[in-house]
Amino acid sequence: MNLNFLLVEDSPVDCELLIRHLKKGGIEPTYLRVENESALVAALEQPKWDLVICDYHLPTLDPLTALRLAKTKMPITPFIIVSGSVSEEDAVKALKAGANDYILKTNMTRLIPAIEREIGEAGKHREQLRIEADLKVKEEQLRQAQKLDAIGQLAGGIAHDFNNVLAIILIQTGIIVKTLDKNPELKKIAEPIYKGLEQVKKSGERAAGLTRQLLAFSRKQILQPRVIKLNQLVVDMEKMLRRLIEESVTIKLNLAENLPNIKVDPNHIEQVVMNLVINSRDAMPKGGTITIETRPDELDDKTAQRYDMKPGRYVSLIVSDTGCGMDEETQKRIFEPFFTTKEAGKGTGLGLSTVYGIVQQNKGLVLVESKVGVGTSFKVYFPQVDEDVKVVQSEKKTKTDIRGSETILVIEDDSSLRNLACDILTENGYKVLPAKNGVEAMGIVASHQSPIHLVLTDVVMPEMGGPEFAKAMQEQKMNAKFLFVSGYTDNVLIREGIDSGKIQFMEKPYRLEALLEKVRELLD
Ligand SMILES: Nc1ncnc2c1ncn2[C@@H]1O[C@H](COP(=O)(O)OP(=O)(O)OP(=O)(O)O)[C@@H](O)[C@H]1O
Ligand SMILES: [Mg+2]
Repeated sequence: MNLNFLLVEDSPVDCELLIRHLKKGGIEPTYLRVENESALVAALEQPKWDLVICDYHLPTLDPLTALRLAKTKMPITPFIIVSGSVSEEDAVKALKAGANDYILKTNMTRLIPAIEREIGEAGKHREQLRIEADLKVKEEQLRQAQKLDAIGQLAGGIAHDFNNVLAIILIQTGIIVKTLDKNPELKKIAEPIYKGLEQVKKSGERAAGLTRQLLAFSRKQILQPRVIKLNQLVVDMEKMLRRLIEESVTIKLNLAENLPNIKVDPNHIEQVVMNLVINSRDAMPKGGTITIETRPDELDDKTAQRYDMKPGRYVSLIVSDTGCGMDEETQKRIFEPFFTTKEAGKGTGLGLSTVYGIVQQNKGLVLVESKVGVGTSFKVYFPQVDEDVKVVQSEKKTKTDIRGSETILVIEDDSSLRNLACDILTENGYKVLPAKNGVEAMGIVASHQSPIHLVLTDVVMPEMGGPEFAKAMQEQKMNAKFLFVSGYTDNVLIREGIDSGKIQFMEKPYRLEALLEKVRELLD
């Protein structure tokens, strides 16, 4: 056993004897001998000692003082007193003060077993402390995750209902604006109203943007993941990013060659890059450098376990800046929605919440490192995939006629939304069958004689939701196309369907034209 001894002993001869005894006992000692307080204090500055052995009768140093100094600096390191003579009273006093053992020079056979025992105990003690510290870190992480989860549920719930309300505002204003556009005389008379409506529409769209961010944070956005090249995504965004920032800020790209592919929703990842870059810009009002870096990466077992991730191969995206940085307190809160240090009206505090939600939903991890006055670096991991990028043929963007005469079953539990969708479709020539949920829709399908071409359905509805209805219809071999509409969905079937491209989906709130175009596209 190799051990580092700190020997508090005034006699070099006794020290020699002790070392010889240790060697005979199978110990390989390295040691330093000190005999006064200042030398002891200096020695204690080095963290290398496995054990302290202290004589009880020192000319200039009280052994209890030595004990106190040693235990203050190294509470776990064993402290054994070895002495030629000692009263029982002194021995008890030393043990009470924290000495680990007391050995008489006349009974040295006890020394080696005592050392072995105390070294073992200290090891166990250190291990225990390490486990406790790890546990504390994990607990803190869990607490943070739970907090964000709870806020996410609340925010997501509100955003979901709010989305329905917004859909109506947006669609209705859209209809009125369109009516006015078609009728120039009316538009002229209603000029102030028209202007007001445009404002309503703009605000509505902004509100829709905010709810989308909230849904992103609560991980309830619809994912449409594809295999992509992260480098390509960054390069494609570069021009747009440069336009976002002042001239005093430089953007540097540092993209790894032969970067493996990742499978993510590219729209969401663009959002991540943009939010991070905007934050960096805001952190550097006097200019600086933003570096966007990509590299193949890995999460080893220990790191993965720490962050509740799967160990393995990842691709990382690092956005760093030379900005103002953040203190620890700020860093703890940055992912909370509505947490912002920016003055009122400047920031909503949703940027990083969105990043957090998106990264989690795409099975990734986001970490931050920051130092006040030096800068900040966000690192985002995404799992690598071996699949290749699918080449999608670019759609021809001809202005399709958006009218039709087919029959559409509209299932939506929100009556005003249902009426709106029905009105729009009827106005554009379609025959419409409204239903307030899957059960009612089943009845309609059973009694309707002619074919139904398309089912436009909400996902979550009381009694019977869209996916359950679709499944029932599949069993009955119904021949209609399905278009699902929702602000978000936790429905596994839908998610899988979207992932595999089997399910057609539209995000709420939708624009009128978008709905009509999508309906036409499906029917053709
Ligand atoms: N790169 C950075 N450097 C310094 N501080 C940052 C950086 N990124 C984020 N922060 C801190 O984190 C806070 C939250 O960021 P977040 O993006 O969520 O909201 P925001 O930027 O304040 O508002 P917005 O909703 O407009 O994004 C910021 O107010 C800022 O204090
Ligand atoms: Mg921001």
